[in-house]
Amino acid sequence: MEASDTAADAASTAAEDSVTMDKIVALCKRRGFIFQSSEIYGGLASTYDYGHYGVLLKNNVKHEWRRAVVQERDDVVLLDAAILMHPKTWEASGHLSGFSDPLVQCMGECKRRFRYDHLVEDLEAGGKPTDHVVCPVCGGELSEPREFNLMFETNMGPVKDDASTIFLRPETAQGIFVNFKNVMQFARKKLPMGIAQIGKSFRNEITPGNFIFRTREFEQMEIEYFCAPAEAAAKHKEWMDARLQWYIDLGIRPDHLQMRKHEGDELSHYSSATSDVEYLFPMGWSELEGIANRGSFDLTQHAQFSGEKLEYMDPQTNEKYVPHVIEPSAGADRGTLAFMVDAYDEESVEGRERVVLRLHPRLAPVKVAVLPLFNKDGMPEKARALYEELRGVMQAEYDTGGSIGKRYRRQDEIGTPWGVTIDHQTLEDDTVTLRDRDTLEQTRIPINEVTGELVKRLAADWKTPKLT
Ligand code: GAP
Repeated sequence: MEASDTAADAASTAAEDSVTMDKIVALCKRRGFIFQSSEIYGGLASTYDYGHYGVLLKNNVKHEWRRAVVQERDDVVLLDAAILMHPKTWEASGHLSGFSDPLVQCMGECKRRFRYDHLVEDLEAGGKPTDHVVCPVCGGELSEPREFNLMFETNMGPVKDDASTIFLRPETAQGIFVNFKNVMQFARKKLPMGIAQIGKSFRNEITPGNFIFRTREFEQMEIEYFCAPAEAAAKHKEWMDARLQWYIDLGIRPDHLQMRKHEGDELSHYSSATSDVEYLFPMGWSELEGIANRGSFDLTQHAQFSGEKLEYMDPQTNEKYVPHVIEPSAGADRGTLAFMVDAYDEESVEGRERVVLRLHPRLAPVKVAVLPLFNKDGMPEKARALYEELRGVMQAEYDTGGSIGKRYRRQDEIGTPWGVTIDHQTLEDDTVTLRDRDTLEQTRIPINEVTGELVKRLAADWKTPKLT
């Protein structure tokens, strides 16, 4: 489970960047990536809706995760389990009794609620005493901490009573454990092997915040990797390396990433070892993904509560055992936020300021914009034909609105890596200019080579451009 996410000492490094969370929130709203949910009713706290570019970006993050952990490996298969699960699941997993945070309420003027452990951490980070913690807003006395279960409850069927109580899943992982037997029957795979799943999870967080970093409804990308007990430590290390590298390969600056090992008292009830991939967000180093060694905890618990045997027999040695599990568990929304924060840049080009999202081309919501210089003289026809060819293979946009400079700025802000301009010369010799978002280089190439060139560039390795 998640560790705390504030580290004041690191915030100073983040401050060297031009990016702030306010700038990201403003860009997301301005360009329609992400909006406050139910805005016309004044908004619902800490819930967000993704607009066109936000959906494209988050889908690309999920697609790249699936590519890396399933498509490019032989040992991981997919699953899509239901959000609603048998209530016994949560007894077995320990969530009913143990998935809680310490809640305190201000007894003074403001009556706000806080996570007690976060208040203590903030004081410790500021070098302040923690023996008498008071409300950070109004200075009032706080109630005694009480454990608050984070699972959302609802009822199944027409009768609302204890017997009909079910829960919105707080993690996708349990859907994988309860399907272990089903998947093993059909996957035609031997251990070690993993099951990967992307889906929504829900937590009634006491203090959500930092935009889409911590919300009550979010998407997870989780792998449960099953292996022999003796292999678990080595597989844990392999997954830590692989998952850290994934963020780097998709353009996050390595010095903005770190792996942090959980201390003994920080470990979740199921974990014998956990390390977090942390990113240097504007508010400091914070968890992006947890990679836990869950041992045989989950399969043992579900076997006990369900009465089903959840074991594996090694076909070579005929040895029977309860597999151990390594769990790389990432947040799709949190990943999306980190990719945006890391890609955000501001610079001055020929005396004009531009905001640019230097996203990896594979993550960019739109790969190419086709821009006819004038909306006349046969240019729109040529441009439209190229656009229709391009959109058959990648997300493309056709943009005729405003000056060419304005159109480039719009595409820069949504992170479009390439722009194709159709001009008078195109009408004479069927060549176009291809503009690179990061270098601003413009090259003239034949119009019939554009699609092939961009397909080639999308498949090629990509290096993070130097941010200004
Ligand atoms: N199955 C293990 C598990 O759920 P976790 O550390 O609680 O572990 C894994 O969650 C990841 O899910 C986190 O690293 C984070 O990226 C994401 N996540 C957790 N709670 C979240 C929240 N309230 N809002 C957004 N993302 C969250």
